[in-house]
Amino acid sequence: MKSIAILTSGGDAAGMNAAIRAVTRSALDQGVTVHGVRQGWQGLIVDQIDVLNARDVGNIIQIGGTFLGSARSKEFREESGRSRALRNLSRRGIEGLVVIGGNGSQTGSYMLSQLGFPVVGIASTIDNDLYGTDVSIGCDTAINVTLEAIDRLRTTGSSHTRAFLVETMGRDCGYLAMMAGLAGGAEVISTPEFEVPAEAIAERLRAAYERGKTHAIVVIAEGVKENAAHIMSHFEKDRRMVGFELRATVLGHVVRGAQPTAFDRLLATRLGVAAVKSLNEGVFGVLIGEQGGEITRTPLADIAGKTKPISTNLIELARILAK
Ligand code: F6P
Repeated sequence: MKSIAILTSGGDAAGMNAAIRAVTRSALDQGVTVHGVRQGWQGLIVDQIDVLNARDVGNIIQIGGTFLGSARSKEFREESGRSRALRNLSRRGIEGLVVIGGNGSQTGSYMLSQLGFPVVGIASTIDNDLYGTDVSIGCDTAINVTLEAIDRLRTTGSSHTRAFLVETMGRDCGYLAMMAGLAGGAEVISTPEFEVPAEAIAERLRAAYERGKTHAIVVIAEGVKENAAHIMSHFEKDRRMVGFELRATVLGHVVRGAQPTAFDRLLATRLGVAAVKSLNEGVFGVLIGEQGGEITRTPLADIAGKTKPISTNLIELARILAK
């Protein structure tokens, strides 16, 4: 392969830049020309593509987000959009594509590879809901940002004898909330897979208050039915149910924009190099991930359109520790 392109798609994730850098420099090392596509699939459709050299990807390993830009492209879901993308790739003599992104993005990778184009995906989403990898780029950073918020809220909570609802991202997957809640010693963790209803949250908070706790933390994943706003309005009717004074903080996109942790930079670097190796070895239509500590290649056909549920071990751990 003499020429490849790289794009980042879907929600940005800390470590995407480190992955772009790894793909670019390892490809250049093999004598392969690298093209950077702007704004995800959309850039491929409108031909926003530039050649990248080693210096273009300098000084980005420590920066969150993606310097190539990202987008969720409706046009790429249409056959006409994908045909335009293929024409642009072929006109520029690009023979392979690396797609850094999560679920929706890798479904796009699968669609393109079904048309015969060599595509390799790299697992990257803060939600960590992709099959074919134990962990995806950006998730560790998002856990750490959520954890930092929990620690800070506990400090102010202790001063005022308050309980805090902390809502974090994760779409329909509770992994991010679960891991941050476990690491932060939360009194309650509510996720789509293990949702704790408002009444049960009130009971647990009340019990913690009566045991003499000066603070309590409830971590809530965004995908639950009863989110932080719902729970706040529920308790508005009868504040005595909780014991503590209650406040809510919704973190939202704050968890996405941080500097990547060492873990995410290293994961991104390893996956980026492995993606180029896969293209060079002629293994296409796969997602590069990490499973059991090893770099793995999983057929895109096996992961497209699916979401990985949170492990039952974690749910059990949260149940035991919530006592
Ligand atoms: O998939 C990453 C994610 O941050 C989810 O956790 C969240 O539900 C969604 O993207 C938010 O999407 P947007 O940035 O388009 O608002």
